[in-house]
Parts: sequence; structure tokens; C-alpha cells
Amino acid sequence: MRGMSELIASKEALTTVEVNNLILLASAGADGVVLHLPEHKGLEGLGQSAVQKLTETAQELGFKASLDQVLRLPAAIVSGLSAKNILLVGVGKQTLSQETLRRAAGRATRELSGTDSAAIAFPTPTAQDSVAVAEGALLGAYVWARRVPASPEPVAKIYVLGACPEEIERAQKVVNGVNIARDLVNDPPNKLVPADFAEFAKQAVKHLPVDYQVWEEKQLVKEGFGGIIGVGKGSIHPPRLVRVDYHPKSAKSHVALIGKGITFDSGGLSIKPASSMPEMKSDMAGAAAVLGTVIAAASLGVNVHVTGWLAIAENLPANDATRPSDVITMFNGKTVEVTNTDAEGRLVMADALAKAVTENPDAVLDIATLTGAQIVALGNRTSAVMGCESTRTEVVEAAKVAGEDFWPMPLPEYMAAEYDTPFADLTNATMGNRAGGMLKAGLFLKEFVADTPWAHLDVAGPAYNDGAAWGYNLPGGTGAGVRTMLAFIEAKA
Ligand code: BES
Ligand code: MN
Ligand code: ZN
Repeated sequence: MRGMSELIASKEALTTVEVNNLILLASAGADGVVLHLPEHKGLEGLGQSAVQKLTETAQELGFKASLDQVLRLPAAIVSGLSAKNILLVGVGKQTLSQETLRRAAGRATRELSGTDSAAIAFPTPTAQDSVAVAEGALLGAYVWARRVPASPEPVAKIYVLGACPEEIERAQKVVNGVNIARDLVNDPPNKLVPADFAEFAKQAVKHLPVDYQVWEEKQLVKEGFGGIIGVGKGSIHPPRLVRVDYHPKSAKSHVALIGKGITFDSGGLSIKPASSMPEMKSDMAGAAAVLGTVIAAASLGVNVHVTGWLAIAENLPANDATRPSDVITMFNGKTVEVTNTDAEGRLVMADALAKAVTENPDAVLDIATLTGAQIVALGNRTSAVMGCESTRTEVVEAAKVAGEDFWPMPLPEYMAAEYDTPFADLTNATMGNRAGGMLKAGLFLKEFVADTPWAHLDVAGPAYNDGAAWGYNLPGGTGAGVRTMLAFIEAKA
């Protein structure tokens, strides 16, 4: 397929592998650069003097092995290598965790886009280490496939030394899920209106054991999805609710995932300032992550029943748009006075959550680019997780396994009183008080999940990289949350 690297498990030694670039890992030790070669085929193969020559040359050229630093050297500076060049990739002072390996592999393959072959020779004592390297390699080799003109090709062939085919296959399935989410986020909102997103989901699950169901506008009105309708009705592109269900017969546990799918968030009549609008094409990143996770779980054959719900709408201020002070009736019968049409995510999510819990799943995760306050609180690279304590803790644990950054945040009950209004059960936004904005958004959602064990993931910052590439992340969609939700599901198998 165009735009995809071929990943190959290889048992060859780093000395004999014939590639353009041999990728080696380096950290910043107290006395300078330290190379970390694979346990068996490394040092003996290369020889102590070659290692010394390499580190010395690298340091002379200003390489400090700082995090994400790379240096390309001709392999001929040491003898006995079949590769043409060496690419050193730095991890700074980080411990060699799986996420460190993943990041370094991705940093390297990202650097090598346009070249035809690379081999990664990292120390990978465990199978999970090899999977992490393979995942990182594919994450860093990502290109948005639908760019016109086409993006530069990623490195064509990547050999992962020491890996077995099963490890490669797992990594491919995981990263495929992440990259589906990235692709959808990168798609411009004129090419991905709600109907397009729903259709994409339909096509994407067609060859998998996943059932697809869509609610179009009429059906949404008929069944009382007042939140989704209320948000979507200012756009000529009507909203959708999509259910994608993966249900292996022997599954003993049922997880529901709900994703915010605002294909574009102008703010509606409570319109956003011009400068914060372009990023709002990414406001469907939660739904994209849910779709990617369901696809990954189904392709891996995880023994858990997973139901994904994509709450899809476009938030525009045109003709029949919801007005600040309109009162809408949500799927669960609660009435909401819409005081701010830019707090639209919680409205579509509330409906989808209320619907999802009618199936009595064992756990519910929702994921959304929900609040700017998430970015204020935790920055652009750390996601937040709120909800009932046990589920929240399980998400933090899953994130550790997956190598993503999720931080637990509280839902202080007293704040809920700020939603009181004389005109409905509650408002959707507190007027004039921005304190704890992310937590208050979580408290709003809590009104719609009943007693189901639930966690809310706010990925407003991490879902979209509006700066330069770093690690295995390119500018644009990152696929944040896919690996964590997948790890959460796998822990229930
Ligand atoms: N989609 C935005 C949140 C967002 C902001 C995501 C920046 C990514 C980057 C959301 O719909 C929104 O507008 N939230 C408001 C809520 C407020 C009106 C209560 C916000 O955070 O300002
Ligand atoms: Mn908004
Ligand atoms: Zn939004």
C-alpha cells in the first residue's frame, strides 16, 4: 500500500544486515554518550574498539545523545558493518523503558523518510520490548495518506532485529488503530462532514467481525437525542450516531467506548475567535480514537465485547443553530439550558453515554477533546482522566502499560451546583467562572452515566500536535488514547 512502511522481523546480526541505515540507541551518561547495543549480536559483533570509535566520532560532531537527537554517520568509519550508514538516536537520561524504545524507534524512522531501508538494533530482552520497538518504528513512519500532493514516502523497509513475526504483527495491528485515528483527524473538515465520517467507519469495519449501525438525523430526532440534534442543527451537514460492535462469543466482559466526533467546532453562535478555529478540525479525535481502538481490538481478536459509539456532528452558527438560552431535552430525559453553544462536546457525549449505558456494559470509557482547560491544567502532552475512582485508576494503569501519559484528576462534587438554573435541570456551561473547567465538564457528563463504572478521558491537548514533530509524533493528529483504551480492554480479557 502507498504510504506504508514494510516492517520485517529479522534474526540477522547488526553487523551483517544490508540496509541504508542501521539505527542504534544512545543515552547521555555521566561521562558522555553511551551506546546500547542488542545483548547478544551487539558488542561481540561490533567489537569494543568500534564502539569506542563510534561514540568518540559522534561526540566530536556535537552529538550528546539528548532526547530525540539524531546523527547520521557513514558506517565505513568502523569496519565490519554491511550497512551503509549508521543513525544514532538519543534518549537523553531516560531509563530504557518500553516507551523510551518506542519513542527512539519512531524518532529514527521519522528521520529516515524517503530512504529505502533501515534496521533497528536496540536492546530488546523481552517480547514486549520488541513489540514496542516495532510500534515506535511504524508510528514514526506515519504519513497522512490522503494528502494532495502526496507526502514524501516513509522509509520503505524496516527490519526489526531480534523480533519475531508475531511481535511485528501485533505492532502492526495496534499502530493501524492509532493511524486510523491520525488520518481522520488530519482530514480537513470539508472532506469529513458527519456523513463522511459515518461512511468511513462503515467501510473500515466491513471486513472485520464488527457490526455497524448508524442513526441518521430523522432517527436521532425520533429517539430523543436532543443533545446531538441540538449541536448539529446549525449545519447543513446533519449529525450521526454510529455504533460499532465487536462481540466475540466467549467474551465475559463488556466495555463501551464513547467518542466525541465534532467534525468542526466553530463554537456555534457562541463563536470562537479566529485564531483558535483551525485546530477545531481535530474536535472529532475522540470518536476517531474509539473507531481505531475497536478496529485494533477486533483485528487482535481480544476476548472482550467492545461497543464503540461515535457521536458525530458539526458545530456551526448557521440558520437553525441552537441559541444560547435554548432548552433541549437529552436522551435520558434531562433538560439542559444551553448557555454556551461552544460547550457542545458534552451535549453530544451526554446523549451517547446515556444510550451506551442502556446496554449495561461492565465499564464505560469516554474520550473527547472536551476542554481548553485540559490544556491549561496539564499542557499539550499529558491527557487527563476523571471518573469513578476504580475505573480511573484502571485507565492510569493501562496508560502505563501502553506508554501514554494520562494523569488522574478529581470531580469535586460541590462544583456541580454551578450548573443550577431556574429554567431546566441544568445548564451546559457555567457563566463567567472558568475555574476547574475540565472538572466541571466531567461533572456534566457524570449526570448521564447512571451507576455504570465510568472514566472520562480529556485529550484536548494531546490529540493534536500543533507544533513541530517530536518522538514518533508528526504535526497533526496523534491518535492519543487508542493504545491506552486498547490496554484497558486487554486487561479485562
Ligand atoms: N473543542 C473545544 C475544546 C478544545 C479547546 C479542544 C482547545 C482542543 C483545543 C470545546 O468544545 C470547547 O469549546 N470547550 C469550551 C467549553 C467552555 C465554553 C465551557 C472551552 O474549553 O473553552
Ligand atoms: Mn466547543
Ligand atoms: Zn468542541
